[in-house]
Amino acid sequence: MTDRPTVYVTRAIPDAGLDRLRERYEVVVWEEKLPPGKSHIESQLREHDAEGLLCLLSDEIDDDVLNASPDLAVVSTYSVGYDHVDLAAAAERDIAVGHTPGVLTETTADLAWSLLMACARRTVEGHDYVAADEWEAWVPTLLMGADVHGATLGIVGLGDIGAATARRAAGFDMDVLYTGRSRKPDRETELVEHGVDATYVDLEDLLTESDFVSLHVPLTEETEGLIGEAELETMAEDAVLVNTARGEVVDTDALDAALDAGEIGRAGLDVTDPEPLPADHRLLRHAPEKLVVTPHIGSSSVATRGRMAEMAAANVEAGIEGEPLPNSALS
Ligand code: DGY
Repeated sequence: MTDRPTVYVTRAIPDAGLDRLRERYEVVVWEEKLPPGKSHIESQLREHDAEGLLCLLSDEIDDDVLNASPDLAVVSTYSVGYDHVDLAAAAERDIAVGHTPGVLTETTADLAWSLLMACARRTVEGHDYVAADEWEAWVPTLLMGADVHGATLGIVGLGDIGAATARRAAGFDMDVLYTGRSRKPDRETELVEHGVDATYVDLEDLLTESDFVSLHVPLTEETEGLIGEAELETMAEDAVLVNTARGEVVDTDALDAALDAGEIGRAGLDVTDPEPLPADHRLLRHAPEKLVVTPHIGSSSVATRGRMAEMAAANVEAGIEGEPLPNSALS
């Protein structure tokens, strides 16, 4: 028996975080690839009288979980997004909630660009073509895609990740439009310093005028289904939609229908609804010609995932010690 506080960790995160926690606490880690499930998280918290819970974005942290251990002081999610945590219930119980903002901004913007480029220049189709041994000659009209340079990029949500994505457009000499709840003059100034002149427009104008639309809004009641039938219809027939935000921001059925009807050109998705997307999901019949999907790896570089693990551990430590969290999700 030990009187060190216990931290329950719902998946094996990089050692940088686990080692840090193990120095001070008993750490119980769910080592499987698939999630433990809500009732297992509850029973582990209860069994160990856990004071800390380190979870992932795919774990639902609701009232039942928050109630499972009377000693629970902190929930720390290994993600910037915290739409899976019931913040109001946590605040009511005085349970601190931490997340990992900032550190994954640039890495996620890199992935948004990688999807954008893959869709524009049909690189996944190109790879499949070579792998299938179809490359027998140089073909004048093979896999003709869209130019990225000189095109118009529309950013939906000019927060940190949206701005980082916009900043990269300078190298491609693009026009940049953005939309959101309101105009952001400070962000515009910051972007000008990086050679990007971003213009604020409403969503409809952005969708009409952009060759590439990249989504960077958090999932809220307001943004759920933000891109639905009407919005997809508004986009140009050859436009590309990129989503590295949250799957639920896009209406999957509407996207499926829009790709079928040729209302948009292609979509590059790192997040989906449902998530994970099963291999037999009807949306995947559009891949790779009209659809490129990656398995929610926006923040997945070695450096960034390691840093996220350290930040998540630091939030746990502060919560258990009763100190303000370095990165709190509760305002
Ligand atoms: C997050 O942290 O919310 C991201 O979606 C992970 O890539």
